[in-house]
Amino acid sequence: MTAEEMLAQIAKDVSVCTNCALHEGRKKSVPGDGPADAEIMFIGEGPGFHENEQGRPFVGAAGKFLDQLLAQAGVTRAEVFIANVVKCRPPGNRDPLPEELAACDFHLEAQIRAINPSIIVTLGRFSMNKFIPGAKISAIHGQMQKVGERFVIPMFHPAAALHQPPLKPSILADFAKLPDQLNEARAALGRKVVITKKKEAAVQQDEKPKQLNMF
Ligand code: URA
Repeated sequence: MTAEEMLAQIAKDVSVCTNCALHEGRKKSVPGDGPADAEIMFIGEGPGFHENEQGRPFVGAAGKFLDQLLAQAGVTRAEVFIANVVKCRPPGNRDPLPEELAACDFHLEAQIRAINPSIIVTLGRFSMNKFIPGAKISAIHGQMQKVGERFVIPMFHPAAALHQPPLKPSILADFAKLPDQLNEARAALGRKVVITKKKEAAVQQDEKPKQLNMF
């Protein structure tokens, strides 16, 4: 089976899943979206009202902010895979319960195996706790860490930054580091390192004064 076929199968399994009570309020399941060869996988919390209507992750207000954050990192949605720790909407957008997280985890694990991303960016504490249990997001946000065979970067949830404006500069700064962190992860994993346009411009800027000094 190709990675695309695996993701399609997981989406099918999710759409008929009855492993926890969240399926009872499901209009559309939200398995996740993105290419099977994505190098970066974002993992949020769970579908909200709009996601439950549309079957796609991060399409509401938090999603619009996520799009802005991605743009500032020079990344488009089409390049990344976006998923959640639970695939069906918790009623009233409440926090997912431990038993719901546990029941849904095998879908997420199957997605991670199929995609095999270099970096997982966790959005919010539920997704962070899956990889770095017991950590405090305020202490470690934006810091890339090796977890097993890949790298994990915990970030604040975009919705948290929308509701608590003092968090906004931190989440913006964390996203700005993403291109360099991706190259660092690629190098450590033996994958291709890409010089970003921003870096190219910085190198050219550095070289300019030297050339001028020659005359
Ligand atoms: N918040 C999430 O964590 N996930 C979504 O898909 C939408 C909002």
